[in-house]
Amino acid sequence: MVWQKVAEKDSIEKGKGIEVKIGDKRIAIFNQDGYHGIDALCVHQDGSIVPGKLNGCIVECPLHFWHYDIKTGDLLDYLKGVKLQTYKVESRSDGIYMDV
Ligand code: FES
Repeated sequence: MVWQKVAEKDSIEKGKGIEVKIGDKRIAIFNQDGYHGIDALCVHQDGSIVPGKLNGCIVECPLHFWHYDIKTGDLLDYLKGVKLQTYKVESRSDGIYMDV
């Protein structure tokens, strides 16, 4: 894993997410109680969770409303033991970095 700058400092509004592309991965970064990196594509039908509604650390996929914990990646509905990969994110003086 390597730390990479993925966004400018303060460029992600509080309570929102952005999507970044790293190689062939689409990764969501949410600014909710700190920054959280998580694979952006829902395991159901590959919808992007980035525009999903946030309720605390839970994001709701906008397509069919499955829910994920953005801190752990855990899927909270229907299937046990399924999770999206998560990534460490840090806000530094010159930008937002992610360990990818
Ligand atoms: S694509 Fe996310 S719930 Fe269907």
